[in-house]
Amino acid sequence: MQASDLPTVKLPSGESVPQLGLGTWHMGENGRKRAEEVAALKLGLDLGLTLIDTAEMYGNGNAEEIVAEAVRGRRDQCFIVSKVLPENATKAGTIAACERSLKRLNTDRIDLYLLHWRGRPKLEETLAAFEALAASGAIRFFGVSNFDVDDMEELFKLPGGASCASNQVLYNLPRRGIEASLLPWCRERAIPIMAYSPLEQGRILRNRVLTEVAIRHRATTAQVALAWVLRQPDMMVIPKAATAAHVRENRAALDMKLTGQDLGELARAFPPPKGPRPLELL
Ligand SMILES: NC(=O)c1ccc[n+]([C@@H]2O[C@H](COP(=O)([O-])OP(=O)(O)OC[C@H]3O[C@@H](n4cnc5c(N)ncnc54)[C@H](OP(=O)(O)O)[C@@H]3O)[C@@H](O)[C@H]2O)c1
Repeated sequence: MQASDLPTVKLPSGESVPQLGLGTWHMGENGRKRAEEVAALKLGLDLGLTLIDTAEMYGNGNAEEIVAEAVRGRRDQCFIVSKVLPENATKAGTIAACERSLKRLNTDRIDLYLLHWRGRPKLEETLAAFEALAASGAIRFFGVSNFDVDDMEELFKLPGGASCASNQVLYNLPRRGIEASLLPWCRERAIPIMAYSPLEQGRILRNRVLTEVAIRHRATTAQVALAWVLRQPDMMVIPKAATAAHVRENRAALDMKLTGQDLGELARAFPPPKGPRPLELL
């Protein structure tokens, strides 16, 4: 598949973004790894994975600086997601946090700005900040992260809340809880889910069933885990990979088609939820 043919997901605005993106949590925490992290992100961009997820929290802001370095010279081709911490999410605090993120990202706009998770500040306050930031052009869209159904319902009742562009949540083979209620709720309203930790941070990669499926496809367990999430065409997926080999491998997961047999075996090993359960987070 050519970079221009890679699958995309439509945001409520109608804009399309790549279905597979690049995560950055834990980047910028160790100066000696910086060059390799920048190179991994640049390779991802070369391969067409132009959706980059970061946050003011990651590496205390250093991850945003790594993103800035990676996108230098091709900012317009990239869709940058960043997040405000709940403790900063008052109206003035969100605007100030966004200004700091813009500086570190060395850009004039964040494409999608998320509330990282719910905290003490009232949602109305954060929404008012998002509105002001969108009006000034500092952000293009806003969204949320780690919002369960009750949080989404509250958000949608507030003026402007229904303009939320995405909900970024934990979703992978062993963490299928959202399938019972949050995922259908978002689908009914065409709010795309952005699945984080799709590899369960590497903890599932030695699973026996994943290994058996991977062997049949002459692929790796990471590719099977990603292909399993990516088979849902309305979901964005943001694995973090800090090495060139992992980035290439993850990109190739887009070419993989799981069979009915694969999906059956995976569903037995990682069963869907039997009913609604509280949203898990990492
Ligand atoms: N909104 C939130 O609250 C929230 C929470 C968690 C994560 N996130 C976002 O989602 C992104 C992804 O989640 P995550 O970083 O928690 O976990 P993840 O993507 O599930 O796993 C990352 C781990 O998997 C390894 N890995 C990547 N590709 C691999 C491959 N092909 N083969 C073997 N190992 C591979 C990485 O190693 P290397 O680094 O060595 O390549 C890293 O150790 C984050 O970076 C962040 O941007 C958001």
